[in-house]
Amino acid sequence: MSASLPAPRRPLTNARLSDHTAQTWTIVTDQGDLAITCVTAAIIQLAFTPIAAPPHLTWSLVDDLATLPAPPVTVTQQSDLLTLHTTEMAIAITLGDLHITAQRADGSVILADAPPGGLALEESGQLGWQLALEPGERIFGGGQRTGGLNQRGRRITHWCADPLPNHSSATDMLYQSVPFLVGLREGRAQGIFVDTTWRTVFDIGVRDPNALQITTTGPDFVLYLCAGPDLAAVMAQYTSLTGRMPLPPRWSLGNQQSRWSYMSAPEVMEVARGFREQDIPCDAIYLDIDYMRGYRDFTWDADRFPDPAGLVRELGDLGFRVVPIIDPGVKVDPDYATYREGGERGYFARNPDGTPFAGWVWPGSSVWADFARAEVRDWWAEQHRSLLELGVAGIWDDMNEPSQAGMSAPLEVEVPFGATLPLDAQFGPLNAPISHAAFHNAYGLAMTQATRLAQERYRPDARPFVLTRAATAGTQRFAIVWNGDNTSMWEHVRLAISMNLGLGLSGFPVTGSDIGGFWQDCAPELLVRFTQVGAFLPFCRNHSSQGTRRQEPWAFCEPYTSACRAALQQRYRLLPLLVTLAHVAHATGAPIMRPLAWIAPTDPASVACDDQFLLGNDLLIAPVIEPAAQTRLVTLPPGDWFAWETGAIHHGPALLTQSVALATIPIFSRAGSIVPVQGDAPTVDTPPTEPLTLEIFLSQPGQRAELRLWDDDDHPQAQQRGTYLELLASAVWTGDTITVRLEHVGGTMPPRYPGVAVALNLPLGTAVTPGLLTEGNLTALPLTWRFHVQP
Ligand code: GLC
Repeated sequence: MSASLPAPRRPLTNARLSDHTAQTWTIVTDQGDLAITCVTAAIIQLAFTPIAAPPHLTWSLVDDLATLPAPPVTVTQQSDLLTLHTTEMAIAITLGDLHITAQRADGSVILADAPPGGLALEESGQLGWQLALEPGERIFGGGQRTGGLNQRGRRITHWCADPLPNHSSATDMLYQSVPFLVGLREGRAQGIFVDTTWRTVFDIGVRDPNALQITTTGPDFVLYLCAGPDLAAVMAQYTSLTGRMPLPPRWSLGNQQSRWSYMSAPEVMEVARGFREQDIPCDAIYLDIDYMRGYRDFTWDADRFPDPAGLVRELGDLGFRVVPIIDPGVKVDPDYATYREGGERGYFARNPDGTPFAGWVWPGSSVWADFARAEVRDWWAEQHRSLLELGVAGIWDDMNEPSQAGMSAPLEVEVPFGATLPLDAQFGPLNAPISHAAFHNAYGLAMTQATRLAQERYRPDARPFVLTRAATAGTQRFAIVWNGDNTSMWEHVRLAISMNLGLGLSGFPVTGSDIGGFWQDCAPELLVRFTQVGAFLPFCRNHSSQGTRRQEPWAFCEPYTSACRAALQQRYRLLPLLVTLAHVAHATGAPIMRPLAWIAPTDPASVACDDQFLLGNDLLIAPVIEPAAQTRLVTLPPGDWFAWETGAIHHGPALLTQSVALATIPIFSRAGSIVPVQGDAPTVDTPPTEPLTLEIFLSQPGQRAELRLWDDDDHPQAQQRGTYLELLASAVWTGDTITVRLEHVGGTMPPRYPGVAVALNLPLGTAVTPGLLTEGNLTALPLTWRFHVQP
């Protein structure tokens, strides 16, 4: 209704160029200073600091930002138009009205501000900026979002929140808030990141369909522009600012099982044995809050979990890692060491009068650790010592938006669902407190920083694993995320795809949804389809709420168990690919799970598609997401695609109708690609008895394919120590010959596979000598295979 109302605003006045350094030009105005910095040739920072604003606070940026290559900058000034040029982009500012435009070296527009003007003070006193949205431009990212991958037409608030159950496309705030957007226009991509943890709103074409309006409650406005020009470049640029995921432990790429809660050690063992009896691969089991004594962090319930070390050992013998949950709310109980010690040291979040703030979470009256302080993070890390010494493999940080749990409060105390702490609660040093309003979105990040530190300190030989619910820009340096409390309903099967795609384009390469759904009762077919999606998400974990129907993969008997097993087994066969893609994510910021737009940014159907995804660039997964489906419509991007089920080649771009049965997961490989697969395994550590197989897909002569494969020994310093193995596989089809080569390109780790096999996938009926499947000796690299294609 208010779509065309211009926002009341006060433009900045009296702008004039003040001074500059080699990278930064400063414009002063009556309201504050605007500094424009060329951070790299493809990243520009615009920082507006109002007069008397406090120093800029950030938790999102990497510490070593200064090590990014500073670009040479040339400057032109024509009357009041100032233009800064790097080799990749130019940013132009008209000093009079502070209009800003940015272009790439080829003239394509990265950003232009929208009428009535650019940066301004909103009538509300908040800082705001309006940027133009181009016709047809799509907007991705923004953290964890409902409503599809494209966020254009939505108003999104950056404020980590524990939403009401059954979130829908109407839900705005969820657990992970990342003030970073990726725009895709005419095949080119650009990124905008606002470095703030204050409540910030992106109105993406609601108030004005052609404008992105950014308003922040924060005291300043620090924005980064990433020039792209494609999605891969944007993600590399954004993650050079906010950091990349450390290499994850190998087991964390396996299947995982959880429930709120497995109530006792025998029950946990029974679930673990269930996986082995059912022959369903699984690598980890989670302990939700009921392992604790009265929900006190870092304690165990002595009756139900009398021998935690024994439990961890026994699970280990069955091939399971253990991940316990930790909440930031600490029970108010003078007899509880963590509370007593934290209280004595003044380590909890405070009321404005300096007393600890007490609210309500699982253990009843609780206080919250103040993670804004390094000494508190250090102390929190120390609390983990006994858990880590028991041998747990990772920690699950929950409720860290931070969220209260009103259901734990006495009836006379009203705490709304998901309430957070009061905005005037205080964190940080006593002499320089930070308000909750400023710190809120970073609370979860700082908690995961402490949790990671604990693992680095007390278990230095294993890669840390932190799963967190709340996150913001930069949290990917410490933790992976899952989608929080979804629901056992069909909409959430579909949502698991678009939401995780969006998170991947927000800097989080490893994410997943509660397979089967958290709230409400799951049902047999729903579990199968949820599992078929979840088995291909970077993080694969089945989890459900207390009081709901059990939903382990075998909970509904046949034919559902077999269908779940098949999906999870398929994941394990793709493990060499997942390990490789996790390394790519670590090295470049590219998500493991990518939208079709990643490879086909100018194909309208691919760009619009958000119910399918790619693993890497070449493997397309189009899971069934509807009840009683007999067919699945599959969007194929341009190129030739091999259907895994039939081996048939389909020519894209196309919309394909594929018939499906309960166990069908439509998977397609791009012609001109290599997919590394391994044999079935109950865990990721099971020593392979079958060769590493290079599935090579070529649809015609003239085509080639290449894959850089990564494997390592899972050590935190595998890269520095050289205990990794990097192989380069290539295949080329010239005339009547297909040549496949495998060479060693890096690392000293011996191959974990007993051999290697080449499996050629060619147009159906193509005969080759010596045969479509050939083996080789992986310890005798380089290897070359030559196949003769029979006419
Ligand atoms: C929160 C978490 C959920 C967990 C529950 C109990 O709702 O999101 O995963 O099971 O708390 O700890």
